[in-house]
Amino acid sequence: MERQSDHQAHIISFLFPAQGHINPNLQFCKRLVAKGLKVTLITTISIRNTIYPSKSQMPDESDLSGINIEFISDGFNDAKKVAAQIAEDIDAYLELFKVAVMQSLIKFLQTTGEWDCQPKVIVYDSNMPWIQDVADQFGLYGAAFFTASCAVANIFHLANEGVVKLPVEGQVSVPGMPLLESKDVPSSLHEVTCYSIILKLLLSQFDNLSRAKWVLFSSFDQLEGEVLKTLPSQWAIKTIGPTIPSMYLDKRLNTDRDYGLYLLKPDEGTTKAWLNAKKEGSVLYISFGSLANLSEEQAQEVAYALKTIKHSFIWVVREPERKKLPTDFIENLPDNGLILSWCSQLEVLNHSAIGCFLTHCGWNSVLEALSAGVPMVAMPQWMDQPTNAKYVEDVWKVGIRVKTNQSGKVIPRDEINHCISQVMDEGTTKRDIEHSCHG
Ligand code: UDX
Repeated sequence: MERQSDHQAHIISFLFPAQGHINPNLQFCKRLVAKGLKVTLITTISIRNTIYPSKSQMPDESDLSGINIEFISDGFNDAKKVAAQIAEDIDAYLELFKVAVMQSLIKFLQTTGEWDCQPKVIVYDSNMPWIQDVADQFGLYGAAFFTASCAVANIFHLANEGVVKLPVEGQVSVPGMPLLESKDVPSSLHEVTCYSIILKLLLSQFDNLSRAKWVLFSSFDQLEGEVLKTLPSQWAIKTIGPTIPSMYLDKRLNTDRDYGLYLLKPDEGTTKAWLNAKKEGSVLYISFGSLANLSEEQAQEVAYALKTIKHSFIWVVREPERKKLPTDFIENLPDNGLILSWCSQLEVLNHSAIGCFLTHCGWNSVLEALSAGVPMVAMPQWMDQPTNAKYVEDVWKVGIRVKTNQSGKVIPRDEINHCISQVMDEGTTKRDIEHSCHG
């Protein structure tokens, strides 16, 4: 361990092992380093083995913008074993993960006594409130980090308090938020039996919050001012978003590609060249994030929608999802289409050729589209995405949401095409997004 000056404040941050949680946490750590703080980022050996299959690929501190990175055991130490345990019994996985990480973290913190630069704060994902117990044991300040929106935290908090009754059916009125219908609330508050384990995890976020020194949100006041006013005053809230690399927030910064921790390997190089050949605002970008799995029927409806549109498109389809696409679609992919297993989404969204983002509305994706000024077609799948989609369409008016038909959850190709056309041909959201991005 590199020794640092006694006077430099040292912050430890633990990453929750999912892409949508890693990205904002990593960006936050980079900002702390830029402010002159010492940061040690801790994640699991399973994550290390996924990102860096061989030792030669391991980053050093200069790769990671000066962040020191350490790896501890989650009891599995292998992403395949993690995936198998999650598939078998996710509740058991979460418990095993908690016990193993807690033990490893304690062991790790015991070694810090020898460091010149003692850690003072531990930042932890709000899904791991038990890290506050570890913080207390070692006399560290705890900072709970919410990677979803303030609106979503608010509704889960009220559900936890029994103010919002579960399951949410019909309409629900929540202070500081627009009137929500059941289709607008996070899926685990609506379909409580189907998502009972996720619900338990998300309600646990508030367990130790009163003991946290800070409650961090990957959001910003101008975006969620109304709901921020209604969150409990005893929480020491700090909005730290948008947690986007500064090179994308300030285009004048002429920085090279930003360093990321990708669980899936992004396409290198070819996408940029492909985009460079396209006209401004002419390309549709499609991604459903790192976790959502479309039903086969839904994947096919998206494919058939794309087959007939006149716009160029990039569709991120993670490897296991590809088999759901019609064979003739893959084999006769139109010249104007590109299918990728993963990309640098920020690089794509910030390319001038992108004119619309068909998105599942994961919170990071929404913030990234907003910061890049790209209007959205919202096609939420589960978790917090329906609430984010509600805000995209009705509050910030930076996109439109696909409508479900009476018969079920599959969005038909015509509806998908209609929404894309509204955004790309008729510029329905153009004025609003310009207003909101410059506001
Ligand atoms: C999920 C949730 O839905 C999200 O709202 C929650 O806060 C975290 O867990 P996920 O489904 O992965 O996350 O979506 P999102 O929050 O949008 O995060 C995906 C991240 O992966 C984004 O930062 C995006 O830039 C990145 N990404 C996605 C890539 O870098 N490349 C891709 O090809 C696709």
